[in-house]
Amino acid sequence: MTVPLEIVEKVKKLRQEINYHDYRYYVLDDPVISDPEYDKLFAELKELEAAYPELDDPNSPTKKVGGTPLTSFATRQHSVRMYSLDNAFSLEEWREFVQKIKRLAPGVEPSFWAEPKMDGLAVEVIYEKGQFVAAATRGDGLVGEDITANMRTIKNLPLTLLSEDCPTYLEVRGEVIISKKDFEKLNAEQLKKGEKAFANPRNAASGSLRQLDPKITAKRPLKFFAYGLGLIRWKSEPKWTTQEEVVAGLKSLGLATVPEGKFCPGPEDVARYYRSMLEKRYRLPFEIDGIVVKVNDLHLQEKLGATSRAPRWALALKFPAHQGQTKLLDITVQVGRTGVLTPVAILEPVTLSGAVVSRATLHNENEIRAKGLKIGDTVVVQRAGDVIPEVVRPVKEKRTGHEKEFHFPRNCPACNSPVAKIGDEVAWRCLNISCPAKLEQGLIHFVSKSGLDIEGLGKKWVQTLVRKGLVKSPVDLFRLKKEDLLPLERMGDKLAENMLRSIELAKKKASLKKLISALGIRLVGEQTARVLAENYKDLDELAQASPEELQTLPDIGPEVASSIYKFFQNSANKKLISEFKQIGLWPESAKKVTKPGKLEGKKFIFTGALSSMSRPQAKKRVEELGGKVVSAISRNVDYVVVGDNPGSKLGKARNLGLTIINENEFLDLID
Ligand code: IVH
Repeated sequence: MTVPLEIVEKVKKLRQEINYHDYRYYVLDDPVISDPEYDKLFAELKELEAAYPELDDPNSPTKKVGGTPLTSFATRQHSVRMYSLDNAFSLEEWREFVQKIKRLAPGVEPSFWAEPKMDGLAVEVIYEKGQFVAAATRGDGLVGEDITANMRTIKNLPLTLLSEDCPTYLEVRGEVIISKKDFEKLNAEQLKKGEKAFANPRNAASGSLRQLDPKITAKRPLKFFAYGLGLIRWKSEPKWTTQEEVVAGLKSLGLATVPEGKFCPGPEDVARYYRSMLEKRYRLPFEIDGIVVKVNDLHLQEKLGATSRAPRWALALKFPAHQGQTKLLDITVQVGRTGVLTPVAILEPVTLSGAVVSRATLHNENEIRAKGLKIGDTVVVQRAGDVIPEVVRPVKEKRTGHEKEFHFPRNCPACNSPVAKIGDEVAWRCLNISCPAKLEQGLIHFVSKSGLDIEGLGKKWVQTLVRKGLVKSPVDLFRLKKEDLLPLERMGDKLAENMLRSIELAKKKASLKKLISALGIRLVGEQTARVLAENYKDLDELAQASPEELQTLPDIGPEVASSIYKFFQNSANKKLISEFKQIGLWPESAKKVTKPGKLEGKKFIFTGALSSMSRPQAKKRVEELGGKVVSAISRNVDYVVVGDNPGSKLGKARNLGLTIINENEFLDLID
């Protein structure tokens, strides 16, 4: 049966359209249509493909879900060797590398292209006449494994190149990775399914790509970032003559290229780039272990050539290790303001990513057991995604037999009262309400920035005041007299006066929100404190609220509500609050009149700038009232809020006949 021409055209058009929307969504992260609209196009294409199997195409966007499983990977020879890179570990070595280039190419002042060295695995992807035809791993550089079926499932990899004007044959090289965020999510899912967690994003990417069943790979959040070329053939003249043009060219074909790449006119610009990436490293959404610098001019690259292992025109400038080994000298246990006992590793100082690390939290007893740590162990420590150091594991091969088992205390290290676990919590807690460690930590929080923000009253002074018995509760701070302070070590006339003045000032300027936050109620941070202060007049009114009532407020679930309720039921806390009132620490707030949930289920979209508030503020307000702010325009949007200089969304909204309101109307709605 011949397929009607209009169907052939329709299928072609749908594939082009979906490819374009995939590119907007997965490569540019900037979709132009809503999910339901996309789903509609996709369903339409799938239906036509099912009805006309003659139109089957392995590169159809519907094939991203993965084909039939393999029994093993075939091998595939690379047409141009996939080299490794020489490593350097300092800017000095970088300068030596530049000198070597200058010796090999006398009289040349090279410029460079620098970009992050992504920590994933190297892959080559091949296109013929703009169509994806094959992909292979690096392997030994000469022969790799054929991973065509798996690469086909990677969402940000185009199966059809965007531009008609593309090379007739193109081998693109790049890195397959998993972002830090996707890695966390993937590991959480693995554990939920009872499967093993991956050690790091690199292992997760490699494990996901080396699956024989492409349907499994399709479910993994893999991404491909292009950084270079293998063999390339053009219809006529080659179009790209520098590395910078290669990257821009690959980008114009719809490929995602390594983010944050930069042209560096000279060696010192590379040094600056290196320092800036080193500083930025932990804030990037993916793991990097250094930068890669390439001579920008492709002719010069060719002239410099390669050794048996690596090209002479490129260098990996690695970052200082963020993992290292050191000794676990001891484990101490700290008591926090809520009474939680936290074990802390005391380490022999070790430098990681340029900072000296001598302590690291071990979170709780289970964590120590799960890791199998013993005091005296040599341990692997790292500064992971964030900058907080952590103990990864003991190096069991280095044990001498003198290591000691750690026993978690069953009594509070500060007051010696027995510790207990509440409900199914993993943490041990000290339940003694007058535990000095809890009091001390509670007071440190009370005066901190998240509390009343008492300037000049730091951690050290709070500790002194508590240890000298001058302060036994937060109210005592406001009863301090100059005579109490003067006998303290390192205290002077002026300092005492200043301290008392800032305590008095903090009392006067305390808002209800600050005071609620200062109380240190379990699970109540600054955000929740703000919600409470907006809905209750003072602490007395808040203390009367039932858990059911509290749960009607935005962001307050049953656990938080119960914690607030219990706090105000506690007799010691009741006494504290009445004392606050007595001494005049009694802020009141103007309650809002709006009922929460007024905009329940309503979808908003913004276009143009608002003059009375920022976008995030407007979004927050809508969400507090139960509404939602969406980014893609569709028939489901209830209100289109138009500010100054609206964008194209306004036209689309008009076409769809949506309700369009201005800023004043929006303010009426949320007031
Ligand atoms: S260029 C001949 N650029 O690093 C030059 N490699 O240690 C080929 N890598 O096998 C590599 N990010 O897997 C280049 N922006 C980047 C890279 C990068 C990560 C990996 C690549 C390579 C390995 C060499």
